Amino acid sequence: MPLSISLIVNGEQKDIALEDPRATLLDVLRDRIGLTGTKKGCDRGQCGACTVLIDGRRINSCLSLAASQDGAEITTIEGLAAGDDLHPVQAAFIETDGFQCGYCTPGQIMSALGLIREGIADDDPERIREAMSGNICRCAAYQGITEAVIKANA
Ligand code: FES
Repeated sequence: MPLSISLIVNGEQKDIALEDPRATLLDVLRDRIGLTGTKKGCDRGQCGACTVLIDGRRINSCLSLAASQDGAEITTIEGLAAGDDLHPVQAAFIETDGFQCGYCTPGQIMSALGLIREGIADDDPERIREAMSGNICRCAAYQGITEAVIKANA
């Protein structure tokens, strides 16, 4: 018998029947809810491509069981822009060229937003790199990413 859970995703309630109680939040977001902006990179907690906010805090959604998030408020990259108006963190990534291929970018942006909301971000590039170290960019666009965090936090 499926396990029923409710998630609040980008402000909308989603009632989901989980056939497999071991389904990760990442797979539920992508395959059941259709929010494919959250990316699957390593699927083992090492790259940060799957970063979302749960109740305002950064997590790797590939490491979280969807069943354990029953009732949680989840924000994905799709929940940031208001129509055609980008969120300030998204705009900062564009202004600083904080990406190249773009695959890691949703996770980078969600991690940057979490960092800013947690009050951890400041204007020190070294501290930002440390705080963002869970988000890997294989194109090595780190300078632009760090500048984006500083700009968005200003
Ligand atoms: Fe989750 Fe890499 S896909 S950390």
